[in-house]
Amino acid sequence: MFLETQGLKDLQTLVSMSKQRGFVYQSSEIYGGLNSCWDYGPLGAQLKMNIKRAWWETMTRRRDVVGLDAAILMHPTVWKASGHVDNFSDPMVDCRSCKARHRADHLESNVCPNCGSKDLTEPRSFNLMFKTHMGPVEDEGSVVYMRPETAQGIFVNFENVQSSMRRKLPFGIAQIGKSFRNEITPGNFIFRTREFEQMEMQYFVTPGEDDKFYDQWKEWRMQFYRNIGINEKNLRFKPHGLDELAHYAKAAEDIQYLFPMGWSELEGIHNRTNFDLSQHAKFSGKKIEYFDEAKKEKYVPYVIETAVGCDRLVLAALCDAYTEEQVGEGDTRTVLKFHPRLAPVKAAVLPLSKKEPLIEVADKIFATLSESVETQYDESGSIGKRYRRQDEIGTPFCVTVDFDTLEDKQVTVRSRDSMAQERISIDQLSRYVNDKILAKL
Ligand code: GLY
Repeated sequence: MFLETQGLKDLQTLVSMSKQRGFVYQSSEIYGGLNSCWDYGPLGAQLKMNIKRAWWETMTRRRDVVGLDAAILMHPTVWKASGHVDNFSDPMVDCRSCKARHRADHLESNVCPNCGSKDLTEPRSFNLMFKTHMGPVEDEGSVVYMRPETAQGIFVNFENVQSSMRRKLPFGIAQIGKSFRNEITPGNFIFRTREFEQMEMQYFVTPGEDDKFYDQWKEWRMQFYRNIGINEKNLRFKPHGLDELAHYAKAAEDIQYLFPMGWSELEGIHNRTNFDLSQHAKFSGKKIEYFDEAKKEKYVPYVIETAVGCDRLVLAALCDAYTEEQVGEGDTRTVLKFHPRLAPVKAAVLPLSKKEPLIEVADKIFATLSESVETQYDESGSIGKRYRRQDEIGTPFCVTVDFDTLEDKQVTVRSRDSMAQERISIDQLSRYVNDKILAKL
C-alpha cells in the first residue's frame, strides 16, 4: 500500500520537529538559548524515561547485576586517583587574530577554521572537568568537580555493594546519572552536550576472564539495541586503535549508530583492567581486594565497562523512528515508528463525536487505559487529522469510540505502522494494548 518510504534526511528536520511536537526545546530559549544545552519537553522526557527504564531493567533484572545511584559531587581525590585531573584534557590552540579556540587534533592544517589566520598559539592542555566550590569559601581547598563520568561512583562503592549484597565475582553494578564535560566543540543537537546523562555498568571479573567477558558484553549490548527496535543496518562495532584508547583502557570498542551526520558513538565498551580499583586503593590507603573462596586467594578484580550516552540513544531512537511515507495519491504522512516500549504515548482515545454518550464511554476507556499505559485523549478535528497527529508522535495504537460502540461495546483499534483497523471488545482493550507493548526485552 505504501508507495514510497524514506527516513530522516538531515538533523535540522529533527530539531524542528522535536520542538514542534514537544520532544526537545532549546534551553533558556527566551534568553537566546545556552550553547549546547537542551531541555526535554513532555514527550521527550517520557521517551527518555522509557529508554532508561529499558536499559535499567535489562541490566538489573539479571541475577548478576545490581543498581546504584551515587552522588554527582565526589571527594576531589577521586579524580586524582582516576587520572582525570592529569589526563582528561584536550590539546587546544587559540587564534591570536579572532581569539577562537580550537582542538589542535581537529585542525586539518595550521590555519584557523574561523578566520583563516595562521597566527595560532602552541597547543595547550585544557581539562574537560567542570570545577566548582563546596561551601562559602572559593579557594583551592574547596574545589570540587562535577563528575565527568558516573563510573567512579561505582568503583568507590565496589566494597560496599559487594559486601552488603553478598556478591561473588563475576557481578556488575549499573547506574544512570548526569555527567558533565566542558567540551570545546559540542554540537549536533543532543549528540554532544556539556551536561549529559550516562547509563554505565561496571562488571567485575576475575583477572584472566576479562577478555571472555569483554566479548560477551559486546554481544549482549548489541542485542539490547536490537531488542528496543533499532534497525540493525544502522548499528556497527568500531574498535579503538591503540592510539585512541582512554588512559584506563586495555581494549575498547564503540557501538556506533548511523546518525544523519555519519557513524558516531552511541556506547563504549572498555576493558578497564584493575586500573581504577588499584588507583583508589593507592590514593585512599585502603585495601580494595576480593577474596576468592574457591581459589583461596585475594586479588583486585578486572572491570568490563559498558557506557551508553543516554541522550545519544534518545537521538538515535528519534532518527531511527522517523519515517515519511506516501500513503495514497498525493497524500503523505510523517510517522515515528518507535518500538512500542519506547513510544512516549502508547494509546490515544479518540471519540468520533463530542456527543455526551460517546464522551462518557471514551472518558471511562481513557481512565482504564491510563492506569497501565501513557494515554492521550483527543476529541478535536477530523479523525484523519487526529490519526496523523498521533503518527507524528509515534503512538502505536489509536482507539476510536463510535456510535456502534454504544451497542456492541467494541472500539476500533488502528495500528500506527500498518494503519490496519480491528474491532476489539472494551473488556479486552487494556490486555490487548499491554500485551503488544510489553514485548520481552
Ligand atoms: N566511563 C566511560 C565513559 O564515560 O565514557
